[in-house]
Amino acid sequence: QEGGPLAGRRVLITAGGTREPLDPVRYLGNRSSGKQGLALADAARSAGAQVTLIAGSMEQQPGPELACIEVVSVGTTEQMHAAVMSRAEQADALIMSAAVADFRPADYAHTKIKKSDNGASPIITLERNPDILAETVARRNHRGTGPKVIVGFAAETGDEKSDPLELAQLKLQRKGCELLVLNRVGENLVFGLDSTEIHILASDAAQQQLQGFEPDHVIGSKREAAALVIQRLHQ
Ligand code: C5P
Repeated sequence: QEGGPLAGRRVLITAGGTREPLDPVRYLGNRSSGKQGLALADAARSAGAQVTLIAGSMEQQPGPELACIEVVSVGTTEQMHAAVMSRAEQADALIMSAAVADFRPADYAHTKIKKSDNGASPIITLERNPDILAETVARRNHRGTGPKVIVGFAAETGDEKSDPLELAQLKLQRKGCELLVLNRVGENLVFGLDSTEIHILASDAAQQQLQGFEPDHVIGSKREAAALVIQRLHQ
């Protein structure tokens, strides 16, 4: 697309979930459908950006409208990490909408794990995955090159003790990104649906750049939410 507010800008977007293999037939995964990431890719493309989508496991494949975007398919968090790291430096904006597994099985079994004869259940030991978002922010800040705007996502259920907005504010500070999109998630909320509820929070520095920034709250379609996030990239 010619013109548009993001013409000539490169936007890197991660979407879907990561899968951490346990053995050749099993993995640890999550319920991310990739719909929000696809909507973001579509909105960025409509705004004229050159879009690269790093796609983990997705319920839905990119439709024909996304034929002109580059799609890089990945499985594990390690693969997503490598795909983002090798492209982030050239990107003007990075949007980490993927649901990245925080942990992976410490050991991969090269043959299918069997039920043991004595009835004992296997114990799966986990180890930490790299935090792609935090690492990209740290590298950009250290080198002084890379995406000017980095957008993180936070999927929070909240509970009696913690307010999701407060959790998101803490996460925004901890990750050091410019914008954080809070998703209210739960058994019957958000995952796989076309509707969503988001808040967009901005860091203090980003608020100074974005004139008149007010935290946004949208209850609507993932398409509407995506349009608002993309609008924040070119404000
Ligand atoms: O820490 P938490 O998983 O809640 O943070 C969510 C945000 O961080 C999302 O934007 C997600 O894509 C990103 N993330 C990441 N690497 C991880 C875990 C999360 O980039 N290992």
